[in-house]
Amino acid sequence: MRIAERVRTLPPYLFAAIEREIAERTAAGIDVISLGIGDPDLPTPPHVVAALAEGAADPATHQYPSNRGETGFREAVAGFYASRFGVTLDLASQIVPLLGAKEGIAHICQVLLDPGDVALAADPGYPVYVTGPMLADATAVNLPLVPELGFQPDLEAIPQETLENAKMVFVSYPNNPTGAVIEDDFFPRLVAFAKANDIVVVHDNAYADITYDGYVAPSFLATPGASEVGVEIFSLSKSYNMTGWRAGAIVGDPEIVDAYWRLKTNLDSGMFGAVQRAAAAALGGSQESVREMCRVYRRRRDLLVAALRTVGMHVEPPKGTIYLWVPVPDGYTSASFTQQVLEQADVVVTPGAAYGPSGEGYVRLSLTVPDERLEEAVRRIEERVRL
Ligand SMILES: Cc1ncc(COP(=O)(O)O)c(C=O)c1O
Repeated sequence: MRIAERVRTLPPYLFAAIEREIAERTAAGIDVISLGIGDPDLPTPPHVVAALAEGAADPATHQYPSNRGETGFREAVAGFYASRFGVTLDLASQIVPLLGAKEGIAHICQVLLDPGDVALAADPGYPVYVTGPMLADATAVNLPLVPELGFQPDLEAIPQETLENAKMVFVSYPNNPTGAVIEDDFFPRLVAFAKANDIVVVHDNAYADITYDGYVAPSFLATPGASEVGVEIFSLSKSYNMTGWRAGAIVGDPEIVDAYWRLKTNLDSGMFGAVQRAAAAALGGSQESVREMCRVYRRRRDLLVAALRTVGMHVEPPKGTIYLWVPVPDGYTSASFTQQVLEQADVVVTPGAAYGPSGEGYVRLSLTVPDERLEEAVRRIEERVRL
């Protein structure tokens, strides 16, 4: 038996090493606090759970769902995009449900890339921006996010040769892992860049509503011309604490959305109807739980920022996402600093290099642990970490 090259060459799962370290320490009786993984600790809002229960009790949901999505689901996505982002989506041609954003990020590569094509992948970035193209027998080329540009890529600096083979670009704001947000004309420049170079923009909008300090994140599709050059991958995972539910949507350019649907009819049989109804309840219902959750994250963010500053680190509070992206002190790599925090404080952080070469020199800390654990992590950092 021989496992195919495309799977054998996949890089190791990002958190495998961290999980091993945690398991070893836990087995030795050490209480480890992990700020390593961004998986919300708060529960899904009750009205969403109730819609799921009601949907699950309806035999109409027990048969194969349609890959186009129930009308109610698509109406809810379109309604949300209209009210939240000011974006008009056509129900019939511009929305297809996703089993989470990760599905969309991986499979859009199968839709847009032929072997030998290039995908530009925001670096640092969500690891599937690199492995998705690999699985399509294409090549991911890192697109460095430049700290001096607010963690935007320098589109002018991409070599001509790369542009000639590039078919798509992955970007995402509010950004994982840097926490950066868009506060300028980056999206209009990206649309112009996409048109000039015939490159499809795939905007990963996984953190749209996890924002702070009055910042409101736009949809890429709200930019004039965006729907003709790209798609947005939207997820309910983070806004509604639904990472376990696998609910999202691909929206935007009708030709790409239709091609995505055609691919998908060969990959899976759609999203469970009850989950679609729950997702519709989340998008169409009160957004107060989202605001409340952001208040919780903001408080945690401020606690953690204060603790890191106490031990001498330079950190700016992000305006979005559930992460702090922190430069490591002089003399450390992201890996050595991660190791030191684990050894001194029994706190897990993620080495920035795990998100791409431009992540070297940083660590990422996640805000998704319960308040008392976060407070304990803060205490340990302040008391035990010695730089
Ligand atoms: C930037 C980014 N995109 C996509 C995802 C995947 O989201 P989903 O749960 O919708 O698959 C994540 C999850 O952490 C993420 O950080």
